[in-house]
Amino acid sequence: MFYSIRVRYFVTDTSELYQTTVRGATALQMLMSLPTFFATHGIITTLVIWYEIFSSGNSALTQEVTMQNFDFFNPTKLVFGKGTTERIGNEISRNGHRKVLMIAGGGSIRKNGVYDQVDRSLKNAGVDHVESWGVRPNPELEKVREMIAMAKDSGCDAVLSVGGGSVIDSGKSVAAGYFLDNVWDVFESHAPIMEALPHYTVLTISATGSEMNMVAVLTNEAEKKKWAIMGPALYPLVSIVDPSVQTTLPWHQTVNGAVDALSHIMEYYFIGGEAETTLAVNESLSRSIILMTDRLRDNPTDYDCRANLAWAATLAFNGVSGTGLAYGDWASHNIEHGVSAVNPEVAHGAGLGVVFPSWIGYCRDVNPPIFERWAKNIWGAEDIDGGIAAMRSKILSWGNPVTLGGLGVDTALIDEMAALAAKPGGLGSVKKLSESDIREILAASQ
Ligand SMILES: [Fe+2]
Repeated sequence: MFYSIRVRYFVTDTSELYQTTVRGATALQMLMSLPTFFATHGIITTLVIWYEIFSSGNSALTQEVTMQNFDFFNPTKLVFGKGTTERIGNEISRNGHRKVLMIAGGGSIRKNGVYDQVDRSLKNAGVDHVESWGVRPNPELEKVREMIAMAKDSGCDAVLSVGGGSVIDSGKSVAAGYFLDNVWDVFESHAPIMEALPHYTVLTISATGSEMNMVAVLTNEAEKKKWAIMGPALYPLVSIVDPSVQTTLPWHQTVNGAVDALSHIMEYYFIGGEAETTLAVNESLSRSIILMTDRLRDNPTDYDCRANLAWAATLAFNGVSGTGLAYGDWASHNIEHGVSAVNPEVAHGAGLGVVFPSWIGYCRDVNPPIFERWAKNIWGAEDIDGGIAAMRSKILSWGNPVTLGGLGVDTALIDEMAALAAKPGGLGSVKKLSESDIREILAASQ
């Protein structure tokens, strides 16, 4: 049984209101932790404005709400399967859009035939297009600014992203930025994105789930910030997922995608509680991702494995995996964003494979039953240590590193990475992490 209290507090140096949750296994433990909470949040000068109980109970303390209320909303039409790329032109024209800005990465879509299929489909459907190439992993703000200008100058009425998560996240940022004076403002303000150009995607790497969600992550290289925007206008209108185009992916990209998808599930899973249906779905998705990746290591061209991995990666972050689990934790993602903001050569999935096991080791005592369940039901381990060891062993068996050194990251940069990942009100929700907590997690990742 866990008790929690939701605290709202005011930070005077930024004039912002924050909300966090203080938890304890007993009511007394929870109350005892409050002074520590206040002590670690030293910048709080006006402390509690008011507090409210996490559930609707009237007593001062209550057991935490178990299966959280949720809204499920996902308007993206997903077109999935072999040979579906050729449908993109008709999907765009039937919505009345006549000219798209096509966004792409470094050119792999020319080699695997996807570009030719898209180009032919657009022509056949009478959809005009202009092209912007060169989106890189950890997509950059300046490139997005360039593409927004191109969309405006060329009179585009929609965006078409052809590629993986970095390309799609850039497409979302362009679609939102089209209506803004300065697109980075919404990354700073966290204002929900309510207006954007219509956005279509053709996915070529399953990993981020960006093809069917309302999140985009962008790197401001000048300020070394890798931050996210969200909002209902960011859902793609139509996304095409043809898993057969992924059979030629380099192995490390397949692994990075699998680890990213597993991480999206874990960000929600460790909230725990009584959302049994979602927890069970997430366990099945995780086991499927691990099994399909194992099989692809032996046979990378196996279509059915590619298809199952692709669908699991979409489901891992399209809203389904979070139902009843509040808003997830996301500390590991933010810590990884700190790592790759300082080291842009680090792929997101590779960074998560290093950070997440260390986060589990650091936070396990907050709620041991959910971490034990994860170890047992996903990794077949007897305890949490066994689960962490099995996860690291699996990642190593796929050829990815499990340490910062293995990523090529200089551990002398830990302080800088932790400072970038830290948030004024603490990071995460399973356990509120201060900057020094983040430093310890990174130190445990050496
Ligand atoms: Fe991710």
